[in-house]
Amino acid sequence: MKLPGALTLTELLPPAQREGYAVAAFSARYRACVRPVLQAAVELRSPVIIEISQRELGWFGLTPRDFREAVEEAARELRSDVPLCLHLDHTWEFGVIHSAVEAGFSSVMIDASAQPFDENVRQTREVVEYAHAHGVSVEAELGKLTTTDKMETEGDEALYTVPEEALEFVERTGCDVLAVSIGTAHGVYPVKNPKIDFERLAAIRRLLPETPLVLHGGSGLPAETVHRATLLPGGGISKMNVATDLENALLAAMGGLSRMTSAQLDAQDPDLLARGLDAVRAEARDKIQNFVRSAGRADTFPLPTR
Ligand code: 13P
Repeated sequence: MKLPGALTLTELLPPAQREGYAVAAFSARYRACVRPVLQAAVELRSPVIIEISQRELGWFGLTPRDFREAVEEAARELRSDVPLCLHLDHTWEFGVIHSAVEAGFSSVMIDASAQPFDENVRQTREVVEYAHAHGVSVEAELGKLTTTDKMETEGDEALYTVPEEALEFVERTGCDVLAVSIGTAHGVYPVKNPKIDFERLAAIRRLLPETPLVLHGGSGLPAETVHRATLLPGGGISKMNVATDLENALLAAMGGLSRMTSAQLDAQDPDLLARGLDAVRAEARDKIQNFVRSAGRADTFPLPTR
């Protein structure tokens, strides 16, 4: 059953696109990180997306059901009434998408971007038909991002999204939201100021005036770059994914620990863990206030019914 009160991306993103801000999509990765992320959104009256990918579920040792329970528990404890979307990030196997929808996710991503164009269209279309029948929104991806952490993508070569292909892709698949490749990367950036192709983003927006666009690789981007990407004529990106900065904040505040599973994090010394989770909350607050600038926007949405 869908997490009570959870919104789809179709409900959450159009106001952001219209009003020139984005909603942060935080990859909590560890069960324990769900609460501080939601707490940041509640404190700042911001809409928020909490997500996890197929590879993260495997790496950190969680099931979609575990993740949904963590979100539900945090929402109850915090008496959250901010607009919230529970989203499955990069996933290429239909079985995982089915489990997430069954576990109550309100949105999913099918990432068939490693496939040739027509195969990406075919797989995305299939997921759209399934997800829409369950009232769940679908994000898809066209183009490829580079990576420095090998979490979501393998390659070192970027393949930028071609605007005309983006139009054809959205028309043929019926996907609700499109992740574009315009120069960002997953993981930490090897250079301080990654070069973002704003012209390309503007061209995609001109061809697809209605489709919310997603910027992956949000960690390490300068705030001005994010502002510029959200403020294009007709609306820029309206969802920005953040994973690495959250995990790095957590592990640094815990004395520079290495990545571990979600259960191993739960077993850490409680005081040390509390310091780590506080750093996650501070990092999420910073992204909400100073990067995507969604603070205070929760009250522009209808009240959720939980
Ligand atoms: P970062 O790890 O660079 O923040 O990228 C996250 C992401 O795009 C997840 O889909």
